[in-house]
Amino acid sequence: FPLTETTRSQSAEDRATVLAKPGFGEHFTDFMTHARWTAEDGWTGGEVVPFGPLTLSPAAAVFHYAQEIFEGLKAFRHADGSVWTFRPEKNAERMQRSARRLALPELPTEDFLASLTAQVAADEPWVPAAGGEDSLYIRPFMFASESFLGVRAAQQVDYYVITSPAGAYFPRGVQPLVVWVSDTYARAGAGGTGDAKCGGNYASSLLGKKEAAEHGADEVLFLDSETHTTIDELSGMNVMAITNDGRILTPELTGSILEGVTRDSILQLARDRGLEPGEQKMSMDWVTDRIAGGEIVEMFACGTAAVINPIGEFRSPKGSWTVGDGGSGEITLSLREELTGIQTGTVEDRHGWLHRL
Ligand code: COI
Repeated sequence: FPLTETTRSQSAEDRATVLAKPGFGEHFTDFMTHARWTAEDGWTGGEVVPFGPLTLSPAAAVFHYAQEIFEGLKAFRHADGSVWTFRPEKNAERMQRSARRLALPELPTEDFLASLTAQVAADEPWVPAAGGEDSLYIRPFMFASESFLGVRAAQQVDYYVITSPAGAYFPRGVQPLVVWVSDTYARAGAGGTGDAKCGGNYASSLLGKKEAAEHGADEVLFLDSETHTTIDELSGMNVMAITNDGRILTPELTGSILEGVTRDSILQLARDRGLEPGEQKMSMDWVTDRIAGGEIVEMFACGTAAVINPIGEFRSPKGSWTVGDGGSGEITLSLREELTGIQTGTVEDRHGWLHRL
């Protein structure tokens, strides 16, 4: 992925202003990384180019049939100035699984990793300073760019990596979330694309999120599409519960839930501290009974963008439930501290999760 142009479009002053208060997903860096796949030639033309608008045919298949997938990772600056990312091989493999599900070409792991390295090298000044939790969010994505309206797998596909300085995902920062439990909408169905990281899953979550906002909630929790009883995940994050007898529970991977890298890492960190992980089917009634009975003492949302965010309350048409004392749970915050510590280089990386960019 050679860099074709070295002039930055944004000044050092503008960059400093953004980095002082990055928010999430609002600001983009000077470069983007691109490669193209065609059925005839395979992957070609990997290069880093100036960030800017794409020129696409209005007939590009992605606009009509949503043949699109993406990933999310973060780059962190350590105290010695070096830049690292977290378990990127997991994202490479998940992108390959998503590609298979959406009939897109698989990008080999080494090319995926090389694209991250090239992109972050070009935009290195955009990686926030060490000492805080801010990071450079990395968003690789792939879509059907072939101009064709027949319904079949596209013969031309574009892959890009863009980057965006990131602070806290939720506008209120790391504060306990109010979560609306949707019994109207489901995010994904059996045999569908729920375990693929495709844009369509997020599009289908939006009305649920809107419904949540109408009930004063920050997020929406989706239940299974068939019985509307068991918990799946939030709009773009997995969900976990901590019990008063030392267990950490999360919905099992049924095919309709995204296999989160953060989810997997937290289960490992929990195991390391002697918490017993339980990946299981959980009905919302079972969960709310245990919240009311004091057996579930903490709950949180987890994902790359959101990291770990406490859940303070659930609301549904059936009622509302305060988790614990409604504040940020102690174990939740300590898992969050440990995970971000590993990522930012202040806690030992005992599982070898960091990858230098
Ligand atoms: C991520 O956590 O990286 C995602 O892709 C989910 C989205 C809510 C930003």
